[in-house]
Amino acid sequence: MIRVENVSKSFGTFKALDGLCLHAGEGTVLGLLGPNGSGKTTTVKVLTTLLSPDSGDARIAGHSVLSHPDQVRRNLGLSGQYAAVDEKLTAYENLRMVGRLYGMNRRTAAARAHELLSSFRLTDVAGKRSGTFSGGMRRRLDLAGAIVARPKVVVLDEPTTGLDPRGRLDTWDVVSSLVADGTTVLLTTQYLEEADRLADHIAVINHGRVIAEGTATELKQSAGSERIDVVLRNPADLAAAAGVLERAAGPGIKAEQDPQNLRVSIAAPEGHRLLVRVLSELEDRALPVDEAALRRPTLDDVFLQLTGHAAAAAAEAQASDGQAIEAPAKAGVPA
Ligand SMILES: Nc1ncnc2c1ncn2[C@@H]1O[C@H](COP(=O)(O)OP(=O)(O)O)[C@@H](O)[C@H]1O
Ligand SMILES: [Mg+2]
Repeated sequence: MIRVENVSKSFGTFKALDGLCLHAGEGTVLGLLGPNGSGKTTTVKVLTTLLSPDSGDARIAGHSVLSHPDQVRRNLGLSGQYAAVDEKLTAYENLRMVGRLYGMNRRTAAARAHELLSSFRLTDVAGKRSGTFSGGMRRRLDLAGAIVARPKVVVLDEPTTGLDPRGRLDTWDVVSSLVADGTTVLLTTQYLEEADRLADHIAVINHGRVIAEGTATELKQSAGSERIDVVLRNPADLAAAAGVLERAAGPGIKAEQDPQNLRVSIAAPEGHRLLVRVLSELEDRALPVDEAALRRPTLDDVFLQLTGHAAAAAAEAQASDGQAIEAPAKAGVPA
């Protein structure tokens, strides 16, 4: 449903897109993840026919942005980086207007507006001027506007940037329900957690080209194996515990000691099997443990490795992937 084929786009001498390739199958979410200035909005503009590429082509539902821009627009809904609603109109009037602009008759446009107000939880404020809305409500209204005509493909450019956590969760719900209805979504984001939650497939871009892609799981696996973190009760036990971890992990694997947090950690290609061995060994040697966890690499680790700097929202997106041993995240042992 979405195909970007070797697209380049320069502004003057600056290459904003540099041989970009992307694709998304029907009913899936493609997450375009990249730091500020990496080319996300430029990609969105090419896909939505607002900018034409210098070279390459892009297709929406099989239609080329170069040769059939009208067909592209007919199959596409866009919610831009900044929510575009008419502040003087009510929520209902905004949506009805969009329906009318798409050529629906009055009755159909009104019915569609009511339907969307309901599914975006805006019925209670249907008669209120959208200028009075919070960022989250405005965003929901803008998203509703993007799908009035039931497009096959919806493009969302940083749909949750600037939203509070509640607004972000609401938006995630909306995206999930779109996909459940079979819509294909391209979503750009700077938030790793958002890509992790919503995207079936993630393309990490920097300087206008794809530097890594795959499912969230695949990307995390590419960042290396799981790690074991053990927090000790007594500072004096740190070195002895590191020795236990290293012997359990096998030759050549070094433990890291973090005296400030009384933590030792080590790569654990064997996952929880190693954790069980480590814990029983520490117990045998009377080295009391306060916390022990098997931690999968997060998208933050991936992003850091790939781009050399932390994601813009690293702190916010801080993953809750550290799993306490009482609640192991994985049922099996990695092959
Ligand atoms: N119209 C333009 N003229 C000149 N430079 C631009 C223009 N649009 C974008 N750029 C530059 O191209 C790069 C990519 O921009 P953009 O696609 O908006 O990034 P993102 O959306 O990922 O933050 C940025 O360095 C930006 O300054
Ligand atoms: Mg942008």
